Amino acid sequence: MHPPGTNPFLFSGKVALVTGGTSGIGKAIVAAMAKTGALVVYSGRRAELGEDQAKSLRSEGLRVEYVQSDVTDEAAVKALIKQTVERHGRIDFVINNAGLEADPHPVYDIKLEDFQQVINVNLTGTFLMMKHAIPAMRAGGGGAIVNIASILGEVAMPNLAPYVAAKHAVIGLTKSTSLEEAGHKIRVNAVAPGAVNTDMLWRTMHDSEEAFEHIKTLHPMGRVAEPEDIAEAALWLCSEASAFVTGQVINVDGGYTAQ
Ligand SMILES: NC(=O)c1ccc[n+]([C@@H]2O[C@H](COP(=O)([O-])OP(=O)(O)OC[C@H]3O[C@@H](n4cnc5c(N)ncnc54)[C@H](O)[C@@H]3O)[C@@H](O)[C@H]2O)c1
Repeated sequence: MHPPGTNPFLFSGKVALVTGGTSGIGKAIVAAMAKTGALVVYSGRRAELGEDQAKSLRSEGLRVEYVQSDVTDEAAVKALIKQTVERHGRIDFVINNAGLEADPHPVYDIKLEDFQQVINVNLTGTFLMMKHAIPAMRAGGGGAIVNIASILGEVAMPNLAPYVAAKHAVIGLTKSTSLEEAGHKIRVNAVAPGAVNTDMLWRTMHDSEEAFEHIKTLHPMGRVAEPEDIAEAALWLCSEASAFVTGQVINVDGGYTAQ
């Protein structure tokens, strides 16, 4: 619980790390988090895009820093965390957002390397970030980790097995880690979005407006999420407003999984 009369969404003095922060949901989380007063370090692989975005956010008075880092590269993950602690003294929040969709194929038709790539980015990347951030977070007295899973971490869809498997595993990893860290003041939760209006969704729909209209109808609220809908949930899970919430999956899906 946050002290009565205080705003739990003021994060001045806090340091947040966001992976895959150059587009879609990650980009919305970086902006929303920085607007709370936190200093936000975000990673991604596209250096020019990352730097341009940082310049634009800094021109709005926000405190952000881009670091080129691939979540599947352990040395790069270690360097990202080391550099963040050296420059800013601490890590309070980690939002593991970097993710990769699967090309639609039935299991018998999936190449091993394609399966492994989807597992590597979504699952191994989340594992590596937590493995290396947790000691720094413990040293700083605790914090919160938010893993961006998916409703496909709870229910399945045909022809997307690597993604469905990876997101189910992210939820297992989240719950398991939450138990390990519960006594160390680090809360670990997941957000499970329904379809979100990002490049990833449009890639999976092959830019089809017709598919977009159909996907909207699958969500009882009659629309898909905007990246900001997911950012709000991530902020709540980092804030003291969710001080007794750990090991949970928050569905932000307009009712999809209630059906
Ligand atoms: N868009 C949706 O409908 C939807 C639904 C549920 C969950 N999600 C999840 O939300 C997260 C964000 O997805 P999005 O929709 O914003 O997609 P996106 O493709 O716009 O963003 C994904 C980001 O991750 C980055 N990334 C990919 N591989 C990386 C790597 N190896 N290292 C570092 N960064 C890497 C990409 O460059 C990109 O910036 C993902 O985990 C995704 O699985 C998306």
